Amino acid sequence: MILPIDNLSQIPTPFYYYNMELLNATLQSVKQEAGQYGYKVHYAVKANANDRILEAIRAAGFGADCVSGNEVQKALDAGFSNKGVVFAGVGKADWEINLGLDNDIACFNVESIPELEIINELAEAKGKVAKVAFRINPNVNANTHHYITTGLEENKFGINQWDLENVFDVLAKLNNVELEGIHFHIGSQITDLQSFKDLCIRVNEIQKWLISRHIYPKVINVGGGLGIDYEHPDENPMPDFKSFFKLFHELLDLKPDQELHFELGRSIVGQCGTLISRVLYVKNGVNTKFAIVDAGMSDLIRPALYQAYHRIENISSTKAEEKYDVVGPICESSDCFGKAVTLPQTDRGDLIAIRSTGAYGEIMANRYNLRELPLAYYSDLI
Ligand code: LLP
Repeated sequence: MILPIDNLSQIPTPFYYYNMELLNATLQSVKQEAGQYGYKVHYAVKANANDRILEAIRAAGFGADCVSGNEVQKALDAGFSNKGVVFAGVGKADWEINLGLDNDIACFNVESIPELEIINELAEAKGKVAKVAFRINPNVNANTHHYITTGLEENKFGINQWDLENVFDVLAKLNNVELEGIHFHIGSQITDLQSFKDLCIRVNEIQKWLISRHIYPKVINVGGGLGIDYEHPDENPMPDFKSFFKLFHELLDLKPDQELHFELGRSIVGQCGTLISRVLYVKNGVNTKFAIVDAGMSDLIRPALYQAYHRIENISSTKAEEKYDVVGPICESSDCFGKAVTLPQTDRGDLIAIRSTGAYGEIMANRYNLRELPLAYYSDLI
């Protein structure tokens, strides 16, 4: 990606810069590859709920996968149709369930029997029937960072397979919930497609079990999780959506009239975002040089929280290369974006780009140290 340095250098740092052309190209690629099989994609709003990003995704015809009442409201305010809104989450509060009921959203992804009973009770009070999908924990290893793996029995998410019999018994006794589908999500930043193959095998087994009990869910939702190339954002600005959707087409045993749904977040918005910051000081440590930048873990928490790698570039220097620890101004040792990063010789005032920050970047920003939240700028408006 060629960053418009002259324009960016006029803007006070730190800020997020979004490449809208890349976002739109990514959306077209997902539409094309999922569309040919008739698959529906709900964008995982948690990855980035920036207004302009949501607007582009809505305009491209995607649904919205939400995990809080405020996300449901945001998706509706952004113009997503209520029939394209699904609501997941292990701990939905009553007001959040009521909000979903009042807006007749497409589906509640239910994670436990007590939750199912409460949705039934709240729907009954409104004289409504809520559509639900059971989030089943498939016990499939996503082979990703342990903080973002969700589909193992030891994780808090979903209904374990040994509890399924029970769940369907309870469902049969409730009048104000109706089975729409079954739902899975095994984790995030999954780059080894083998994990998705394992998921398909498990879903097929579960389908057989359901059919043996005369249960025919209309929707199979396999969640999100497709990873992006954080190492080579320019070489691979878009994930290989073709292979991803083809895998499900080849391996998942869909019944006639059954719909396959996805909840992609990172793979849609990850590469279009860049965090731009400025070097405040360069200081010599014992073994290393520190490039102290004006963005911190309050703007982008992924490196501090998950030891996540983001490519770091000095976009205003072409001098000989040296190694730097690129750190932020926050009073925490974990406020470090990268250690021993090779950069052209870096000086005060240089612009530093932290790449692939469109997903779980701006949305996870916080005001630690009472810092301001980062602003956002867009390639088509600067
Ligand atoms: N569906 C469900 C039920 C989820 O929990 C998630 C993400 C998604 C879909 C979207 O997954 P994606 O396609 O974006 O991988 N903050 C972490 C990632 C947390 C992901 C949580 N769930 C990070 O910065 O890596």
